Amino acid sequence: MSSKLSTFICQNCGSETSQYFGRCLNCNSWNSIVEEIKTRRSKYQEIKNNKKSIPFNEISSKKISRFTSGFREFDRVLGGGIVPGSVVLLGGEPGIGKSTIVLQSAGKISLNEKVLYITAEESLEQVKIRWERLNQNSIDLQIFAETNLSLIIEEIKRVNPRLAIIDSIQAIHNHEMQSSPGSVSQVRECSSELQNLAKDNNIALLIIGHVTKDGALAGPKTLEHLVDTVINFEGDNISSHRLLRSIKNRFGSTFEIGIFEMLEEGLQEIKNPSSIFTNKENISGVTTTITNEGTRPLAVDIQALVNKTFYSNPRRTTTGISINRLHQILAVLEKHVGIKLSEFDCYIATGGGFEINDPSSDLGVAISILSSLKNIPPLASSSFIGELGLSGQVRKSNNLRTKIDEAVRLGIKNIVVPKLEEELNKNFQNLINIKEISNIKEAVDYSLSK
Ligand SMILES: Nc1ncnc2c1ncn2[C@@H]1O[C@H](COP(=O)(O)OP(=O)(O)O)[C@@H](O)[C@H]1O
Ligand SMILES: [Mg+2]
Ligand SMILES: [Zn+2]
Repeated sequence: MSSKLSTFICQNCGSETSQYFGRCLNCNSWNSIVEEIKTRRSKYQEIKNNKKSIPFNEISSKKISRFTSGFREFDRVLGGGIVPGSVVLLGGEPGIGKSTIVLQSAGKISLNEKVLYITAEESLEQVKIRWERLNQNSIDLQIFAETNLSLIIEEIKRVNPRLAIIDSIQAIHNHEMQSSPGSVSQVRECSSELQNLAKDNNIALLIIGHVTKDGALAGPKTLEHLVDTVINFEGDNISSHRLLRSIKNRFGSTFEIGIFEMLEEGLQEIKNPSSIFTNKENISGVTTTITNEGTRPLAVDIQALVNKTFYSNPRRTTTGISINRLHQILAVLEKHVGIKLSEFDCYIATGGGFEINDPSSDLGVAISILSSLKNIPPLASSSFIGELGLSGQVRKSNNLRTKIDEAVRLGIKNIVVPKLEEELNKNFQNLINIKEISNIKEAVDYSLSK
């Protein structure tokens, strides 16, 4: 049973309308709406009609038994490994290294489990050339070059692997639909078919999706609700560092990160990531903060450059923290430290451009700004942790213990933190000099006095 219907789908955000608009009503992008013919098939519903509800008490609560991706950093981001029958979407810009990490992982997993790698973008020979450069071993690894969804599904069923990899979702298509590969309805339709297949057969699926420059997964963005886990693979074109970041995870915490370096022989895990985002220099305008990314504490430098402005509106730019956060910190400094920052341009950049989401980096940003402004280096070998409240108070930080632990491990001598519980302070007494502060003024007086 099938019926054809024509809809208009925004290729940017995936919203659907019944008529054409020059501009998407949902995301406001121009000329992004494309007519797509959808063929609604109800194959799965028909097959599944024999399913019945069961008494809740009869369900056994087996513990999830994950299997390793072969990389500790990848496992961490997944929440401890790959969950059988789960669907993971790995997104990233073209050329960032998605095929590379997945192929390395496929090789490692295949030493213990059966893996099927479906290459829809590259030929078998191209994959083999990469494989040889990566110098991997494999045992139970099958490879299949195909773009036709039905053939892919047949092959997955036939091979019945523990993990199937689709590289990439934009390159495969369902012939029963008239829209072109990579269009929103193709991507959605193919994914939901694959999803059903994975759930019914308890096969884990790793789906690669390309993202566009503005950071939105074109097409795949609309899949985020469908899959169990969404992981972004990030990096810039200058440095060789790559970051895996989970942005959705039904089986683990989000905002977990894994850090790699891209080398000729493939991606290598970085064992001591704090070392790559800090410089340990004691110069004006630079502080070190310790953020929490998922379950991991990470030291990151915060650099500020504050200059007298030549513009009627002073310039404010940030790399690695949100611009709104900077505006707020500047307002707090203006009001509670009494410095007229409206006369100054202010640029902020984190070490390596690392994107910090932890608000306890505020204090480091504030001290960096004042340090640059006054041209005084902050207290030597120090680290700053604390979220700035709007009334100038320094608010509590999450996971302060693990952050202080990390500072100790890195050999940092002084740490400026919000008020601690007494017991915590005692624990660290001989390891690091802890300065507890309750507002920004105290922090400034302590850290920037010559
Ligand atoms: N011979 C090589 N030596 C070192 N790095 C390479 C080599 N060939 C490719 N790379 C790296 O691999 C990247 C492409 O990785 P790939 O996994 O194909 O990306 P994606 O699948 O995300 O498009 C290149 O941008 C480059 O950094
Ligand atoms: Mg690729
Ligand atoms: Zn739109």
